[in-house]
Amino acid sequence: MGEKIVLTGIKPTGDLHIGNYIGAIAPAIELSNQADMRPVYFIADYHALTSMQNAEELHNRTYEIAAAWLSFGLNPEKVLFYRQSDIPEIFELNWILSCQTSKGLLNRAHAYKAKVEENLAAGRDPDAGVYMGLFNYPVLMAADILLFQANLVPVGKDQIQHVEIARDIAETFNRTYGETFTLPEALISEDSAVIPGLDGRKMSKSYGNVIPLFVDEKKLRKLIFKIKTDSKPPEEPKDPNDSILVDIYRAFATPEEIADYEQKFREGIGYGDAKQLLFEAVNRKLEEPRRRYHELIHDKERLNQLLENGAERAREVARPFMNDIRRKIGKY
Ligand code: ADP
Ligand code: TRP
Repeated sequence: MGEKIVLTGIKPTGDLHIGNYIGAIAPAIELSNQADMRPVYFIADYHALTSMQNAEELHNRTYEIAAAWLSFGLNPEKVLFYRQSDIPEIFELNWILSCQTSKGLLNRAHAYKAKVEENLAAGRDPDAGVYMGLFNYPVLMAADILLFQANLVPVGKDQIQHVEIARDIAETFNRTYGETFTLPEALISEDSAVIPGLDGRKMSKSYGNVIPLFVDEKKLRKLIFKIKTDSKPPEEPKDPNDSILVDIYRAFATPEEIADYEQKFREGIGYGDAKQLLFEAVNRKLEEPRRRYHELIHDKERLNQLLENGAERAREVARPFMNDIRRKIGKY
């Protein structure tokens, strides 16, 4: 097998936390470094418009995401890294694809369907508060994916349906106009750990239980010391498989350190000491990225330059393919 194009979009919403790093950023960067992959990672800033209508917020979040991924080692030489809104071909393709997409297909998309069901349950008009951006979201996502002929699309479980919709749309277009689009496949990393939050539930911005990625050392330590533990005394043996501290530690330490940490739990360790060790392991991984992040986020010009270079290179790929597509639909 030859090279595979691996493409994913990152929505610039929410403050990033250590769960996002372990579950999304780290595995995607690792994948991008594999020799047989041609990685295409972009900031889906116009997708964010469905839920974010504050201009300053969209602007800042976009730069924050760019700085975060770069500070964790995304290599812009290897990865085609750009802002969706810098690629006009995506939006042209969005329209062409929407003419190959039945409304019924989009009626079944989870986000829209959930909203309709919520409205019906509340006795409202089924489409109350539904904007076309939300309804068409999967078509724009199909354009993102198909324009770059992606083979693999790493996404979370909630996005699998969107990749399947992109496939459906590609098949319809191919049937209408002849073989054009590569059929994409979702790539789900089953083995990436779910990081628990301060309260033991999944760490998530919607639960307000997060450890943000770029807080200073003092704040990081403070948050780690806030993680919920029980009232067992220090010397009492503890089950390492029933501890939020161990769950997080496993994602940040070496195998030897983990074995040692688990042993300490079995023998009895005070939660203060356990939290200090956890803090040291997490901080060690975040120290360098944190420094780079703060440097980058204060240099928007450099970030912008990087994103624009990425867009220029991406358009070199998109332009000729878009020309093909235009020819196929009769514009020549
Ligand atoms: P949140 O739950 O904070 O809203 P998102 O849904 O925006 O996070 O998730 C963005 C990415 O980060 C997804 O790929 C998701 O799988 C990953 N992710 C989010 N929270 C965690 C977590 N607690 N552990 C592991 N991965 C996570
Ligand atoms: N919808 C994705 C999310 O919410 C983001 C996204 C936009 C995306 N376009 C994409 C993901 C293309 C993969 C491929 O996370």
